Amino acid sequence: MTGACGQIGSELVIELRQKYGGDNVVATGHKTKPSKTLLNSGPFEFINITNRETIEAVVKRYNIDTIYHLAALLSVVGEKNPQLCWDVNINGLYNILEIAREYKLTRIFCPSSMAVFGPETPRDNTPQETLLCPSTMYGVTKVAGELLCDYYFKRFGVGVRGVRYPGIISSETPPGGGTTDYAVAIFYEAIQHKRYTCFVKEDTVLPMMYMPDCIRAAVELMEADLPKLKHHANFNLAAMSFSAAELATAIKKYIPEFTCEYKPDFRQEIADSWPRSIDDSIAREEWNWKPKYGLSMMVKDMLEKLQAKLLGGK
Ligand code: SER
Repeated sequence: MTGACGQIGSELVIELRQKYGGDNVVATGHKTKPSKTLLNSGPFEFINITNRETIEAVVKRYNIDTIYHLAALLSVVGEKNPQLCWDVNINGLYNILEIAREYKLTRIFCPSSMAVFGPETPRDNTPQETLLCPSTMYGVTKVAGELLCDYYFKRFGVGVRGVRYPGIISSETPPGGGTTDYAVAIFYEAIQHKRYTCFVKEDTVLPMMYMPDCIRAAVELMEADLPKLKHHANFNLAAMSFSAAELATAIKKYIPEFTCEYKPDFRQEIADSWPRSIDDSIAREEWNWKPKYGLSMMVKDMLEKLQAKLLGGK
């Protein structure tokens, strides 16, 4: 796994180690110091995704047959440094796909994002096949990435799969520099300071997903029968959609003193270019995708997990 210290990687790696055995899942990262849980549960290696030899060395050393390629820059960091975003997201993926082709790896998972959509795309119940004209460099790299993955599947038979994740909410590792980060930060602030200043407007609605669904989607798509899939690296995926104010209200049910104010900044424009809700019927049809968590279940679980982590269960 690349990006194993990130928001999704840090939890997906543990799930895969439980499933396949700790020694069979090699976690890799770049600069972030791996957690003790990660280090104690199986092998860890540092790589640089833009340097092919560093990835190849790990593939050869451990006789790798499958890669979960999670190393990427998110939308906000991508806007701050578009050149680095292109380099990591595109050249990194190219390296992974080339290695997959050359070493005949069996499966590759590469997440895409709802950021492939843009301001001209229909924003409600956004269909699988629609306009992909993103306004962020992150979105540009995800559209190009989907196309590159499909090309490697058709041209070289590389078994690559991927989903367009909505915003991911989780309690283990905070996200690093995305537009949907407010939907995680609000929980930390509600528990620790009983107030939060949200960087998007209160009526901003975005599609979101809770981590257990996010992990299950990756595992289930990787287990799906490849010949039965008509799509490969670009499945629309959805679980819930809510406004920033609806999220604050759901948290207030458990923390009545909590107050939220709204001071939209440059990230509002990115949020406004993305869907409000997503039609994931193709994923449901082709590999039986079905989300479990809605807003109230997610909020209850997030607060329980974070309260235990931040307040030691007090
Ligand atoms: N969560 C991501 C971001 O906000 C979207 O894929 O950048």
